[in-house]
Amino acid sequence: MNKLLTQHSTTLFYRVGGEGNPGLPVLLLHGFAEDGSVWDRQVAHLKKDHRLIIPDLPGSGRSPALAEITEAPSIEALTESVKTILDAEAIDQCVMIGHSMGGYITLAFAEKYPDRLKAFGLFHSTAYEDTGAKKTNRRKSIEFIRRHGSAEFIRQSVPNLFAEHYKQEHPEVVAELIERYSGFPPASLIYYYSAMINRPDRTRILREFRGPVLFIIGDQDNAIPLTDSLEQCHMPACAHILIPEDCGHQGMLEKTGQCNRMLSEFLRSIPH
Ligand code: MLT
Repeated sequence: MNKLLTQHSTTLFYRVGGEGNPGLPVLLLHGFAEDGSVWDRQVAHLKKDHRLIIPDLPGSGRSPALAEITEAPSIEALTESVKTILDAEAIDQCVMIGHSMGGYITLAFAEKYPDRLKAFGLFHSTAYEDTGAKKTNRRKSIEFIRRHGSAEFIRQSVPNLFAEHYKQEHPEVVAELIERYSGFPPASLIYYYSAMINRPDRTRILREFRGPVLFIIGDQDNAIPLTDSLEQCHMPACAHILIPEDCGHQGMLEKTGQCNRMLSEFLRSIPH
């Protein structure tokens, strides 16, 4: 079911689905330059057993109006949108799975509202803050988007999200994503990059969180270095770890079967 809710003057779009266990809702948070549809293969797999909430973050997909957010771009502001959705659905506790930038939001949520999370997952994501080099690259990308627009940025950046062999075997998947996201509002992309630059290190959250944490790690992920993920996945008291072979930054598409099985196993392991 599609839902729209209004927060201040911003409209938030999210989908609610799944017939499964209403006691343990699962919120799937997409990453940068995506929308909730990146989870479609996971939704198809998980919906039998879980109640699912799949937002489009402010400024992505069917949630418009990032321009309405006047304060400095921050991951924390995006986190509040997610909380607004949980409140509207009267969900006290959920499992949150965040892809990449969605993982940064998940960590910020775990920091501010730890009691609202039974467990969480970092799907190609990291608790480290940006390195100086990464911040410099993001600023260059912001300039590129301002000068050339979203379509050219998406055309050049999306292929880098996939492992080499996958994009050779599935050019149609890469082309479909480029097509789907080439109309992305430039203001949203710039907001997200600025918010990511501004975010702090949150490894403390990995060490202090009481529940289980899932890591899905791409050994060929160009956005999240494998070494960073390997350093972090032992930090939580209880970690579930999947490193599919030959996987880039889009395991939900590149390694659907393995990722879906791992998600099911992780969710089944959570006491409720
Ligand atoms: C994402 O997929 O959300 C981004 O690649 C995250 C990042 O650039 O750090």
